[in-house]
Formats: sequence, structure tokens, C-alpha cells
Amino acid sequence: MNLILLGAPGAGKGTQAENIEKAKGIPQISTGNILKAAVKNGTEIGLKAKSYMDAGGLVPDDVVIGILKARINERDCREGFILDGFPRTVPQADALEAMGITIDKVISIEVPDEKIAARLAGRRACPACGATYHTEYKPSAVPGICDKCGGELIIRSDDKPETVLDRLKTYHEKTAPLIDYYSAKGKLVTVEGQDEVADTTALVMKALEE
Ligand code: AP5
Repeated sequence: MNLILLGAPGAGKGTQAENIEKAKGIPQISTGNILKAAVKNGTEIGLKAKSYMDAGGLVPDDVVIGILKARINERDCREGFILDGFPRTVPQADALEAMGITIDKVISIEVPDEKIAARLAGRRACPACGATYHTEYKPSAVPGICDKCGGELIIRSDDKPETVLDRLKTYHEKTAPLIDYYSAKGKLVTVEGQDEVADTTALVMKALEE
């Protein structure tokens, strides 16, 4: 099963991608996590991407499409995958189609902009393994420490309130048109991003069975 998760920054794509990965045994592919790792490791791609990411903008299409192509050709994607944060522009969606990849379902997680800021303010991330938590909605067992790897949790630099506003603006301009794009292809299912993670998870799991 090949899936796409769409949604604004902080809508809960990463959280739900992790849930689907566990439930269905297909890998989550987060271009955001791949780019963040590249920045951390100081690779050529990371150096190119950093300024765009810090400003809340999108990394150029050719860079991200190259990353996605390489990742999707890996062995663990043979039985399917969950795209979390890709495509983010119409040219990226066209590139996916040009690769000959059939998408079975696109789940759009909808959350009003007002709620996003509060969610992202409470988010904590593990720079070592990429796991994410929320101080209120999804706390780690020991505050400040990652449950999965014991790493020290941080606040992402792009979760600063002023950067969040730029990320939302970019989302509405560049990514939201994909809702109509996939609706026209009959692939879109819309899920309301509820206040409780478990409620959103239940809706996403139901959407997968429809
Ligand atoms: P990326 O990491 O993909 O950033 P994003 O889309 O802004 O996604 P987030 O991780 O912020 O949000 P999410 O929807 O996954 O929410 P989460 O589950 O964490 O990308 C980073 C950057 O890389 C981009 O800004 C861009 O520059 C670049 N990039 C990446 N892909 C690209 C591409 N294809 N093209 C170009 N550039 C690209 O949830 C958020 C918080 O809320 C968490 O703390 C969570 O615990 C909590 N939460 C989740 N669900 C709920 C709920 N139902 N109720 C309450 N709290 C909840």
C-alpha cells in the first residue's frame, strides 16, 4: 500500500505516519527527517537545504525529488510506504507520477491554523533518533529524555512562533493545492485532526480501511 499524508506543519503527519508504520509494517518516509539528518551531518544536501528550512520555506524541488527517488528505491519500500511531507508542491506530485508510482490513498489531516501554533510550541524532538513528543499530548516517560534512545529532547529551531507563521504561509501557497490535485484523481480522504492524538489515530485507521 502506497500512502501520502498531507497536512499543514504540525497537523500530525509524523505522528500518524509512525502509527501506520507500526500497524501496517510499511516504512514511513519523511523528507523533513531526511533533510534534518543531512543538515546535522553537514552533507552537501544539508548545506543547500539549511537556509530554506530555517526560514520556514521549502527546499528546492529538484533536491527533494532526488532524495525521494533514492529512498523509494530501497528494499524496504517494495511492499509499500507512507510519504510524510512529500509531495509538498504540484511539481513534486507530478514527479512522483512520472516515476510510475501508483498512490493508493492520500490522507489529508486538517487542523485550523490557530491550533497549530500551540501544538508546535509544546513539541519536543530527539535529535538523535528523530522521535517526537509533546509536553501535553504525548509526553516522554522521563521529561526531556527520549523514550526510544535516551537522547536529550530539544525544541526544533523551526518551531519558533515567527517561523511557524512562515511555514503556514508556505503551506497554504504551495502545498494546499495538492488537496484539489488528489481529490480530482479520486484518491483523497480528509480526516479532522482532533485534540487528542488517539482520536485522530482512530480516524486515520478508519480512513485506511475505507
Ligand atoms: P517536516 O519535518 O516535514 O516539517 P512539517 O511538515 O512542518 O511537519 P512537522 O514535523 O512540523 O509536523 P507534523 O505534521 O509531522 O506534525 P507532528 O506529528 O510532529 O519538514 C521540515 C522542513 O523540511 C520543511 O519546513 C521544509 O523546509 C523541508 N521539507 C521537508 N519536506 C520537503 C519537501 N517535500 N519539499 C520541500 N521542502 C521540504 O505533530 C506536531 C506536534 O503536535 C507534536 O508535538 C505532536 O505530538 C502533537 N500532535 C500531533 N497530533 C496531535 C493531536 N491530534 N492533538 C494534539 N497534539 C498533537
